[in-house]
Amino acid sequence: MKQIPDPINVGIIGTGWCGGIRAVTAAASPLVGVLHIAETNEERRSEMAIATDAETVTGNWEDLIVDPDIQALMISTTPESVHYPMAKAALDAGKHVLLEKPMALSLEEADELIDIADSKGLKFTIGYSQRFNSKQALAKRSVNDGTLGDPVSVLISRHIGRSLGAKIGTRGKFSPAVMEATHDIDFAFWCLEPRHPVRVYSQMAWGARSDQGVPDTQFLIITMNDGVVVNIGAGWSVPLHYPNAANTWIEFIGTDGALMLDASHRDIVVNTVDKGIQFPLSTMPGEFVDHVYAGPMERETQHFLEAVAYDRPVMVDPKAARVTMEVYLAADISAQEHRVVELPLDRTELSPAGAASELSGSRA
Ligand SMILES: NC(=O)c1ccc[n+]([C@@H]2O[C@H](COP(=O)([O-])OP(=O)(O)OC[C@H]3O[C@@H](n4cnc5c(N)ncnc54)[C@H](O)[C@@H]3O)[C@@H](O)[C@H]2O)c1
Repeated sequence: MKQIPDPINVGIIGTGWCGGIRAVTAAASPLVGVLHIAETNEERRSEMAIATDAETVTGNWEDLIVDPDIQALMISTTPESVHYPMAKAALDAGKHVLLEKPMALSLEEADELIDIADSKGLKFTIGYSQRFNSKQALAKRSVNDGTLGDPVSVLISRHIGRSLGAKIGTRGKFSPAVMEATHDIDFAFWCLEPRHPVRVYSQMAWGARSDQGVPDTQFLIITMNDGVVVNIGAGWSVPLHYPNAANTWIEFIGTDGALMLDASHRDIVVNTVDKGIQFPLSTMPGEFVDHVYAGPMERETQHFLEAVAYDRPVMVDPKAARVTMEVYLAADISAQEHRVVELPLDRTELSPAGAASELSGSRA
């Protein structure tokens, strides 16, 4: 007979857009006993207290770290610079952790987090939510079950709207590779396992976002160890009328077939006198629609809770997330120095801290 696991006590640090979805999902999960929330924004704290009926609702995230009854934490805070110190504190305190991307700003920090989790036998995973997108899961299966034959090439083009791009731009001048293409690098490598990347060439294109010190678009060409070529384009300057939306096109070409995946979200159009044309259900994390959820983040959150409660493996191995990080750091070096970068990265190529460099804000 199937065993019902003991309920787990869970904390969410940062309950904005993503953390809000994770908190509401955890509150509804039968696997969760007691829920705790840390959120610095007072108004949001009040909203989340009502939405989740959490036992603790605090402005101090360290309250959740020192609580010995909390087994698992989800860290969904911004700015991205707080991901590493919060995850380190949580893992040091013996908590299982789901951490939003980027997992850290430097490879050293990423290695440290992985080592702590490994040495303590803790679940540690990174929020690459698109692995839980059903269309993308089908692409993964079509590659892995041999439907397409041997993989030859992959193309992924993703654009998010200018308003969301501007929100991300307030948190630091990170490149589209670090903040957007990261999802697609992770996804392509996941589909192509056990191959690994050996070389990267990247270019940035500057336009409407130059004033904020970031390029509009970044292209990456990544070569895998068996010659499969992965081509990823990531942009965050498409104008309004696609508010908060992700517009994605994916191609997998194999020796025996091809898969073309349209995630441009033009299948629902709402047109009102007041707001003009809108495309609902077009965000990357997805959204609740009354009694159902459309998109990947609810399922990703449930998967993490199941991994902790049933002691199952997590979907995103942090070592895979570290490979993705190495590739986007290499892409930024390539784009800024206009040269091909070989992998693994020679540590002398990175800043002394081994960190993602903030962009200089200039055209080539
Ligand atoms: N997987 C995806 O599809 C996806 C989509 C968007 C964002 N993200 C990632 O998720 C993270 C969160 O993004 P978001 O859009 O939800 O951001 P957000 O700004 O909407 O939410 C962040 C929240 O953290 C709170 N916060 C900040 N500092 C805090 C602290 N010290 N203690 C407690 N709360 C604190 C803020 O008040 C805010 O409510 C980002 O790092 C981003 O890279 C992932």
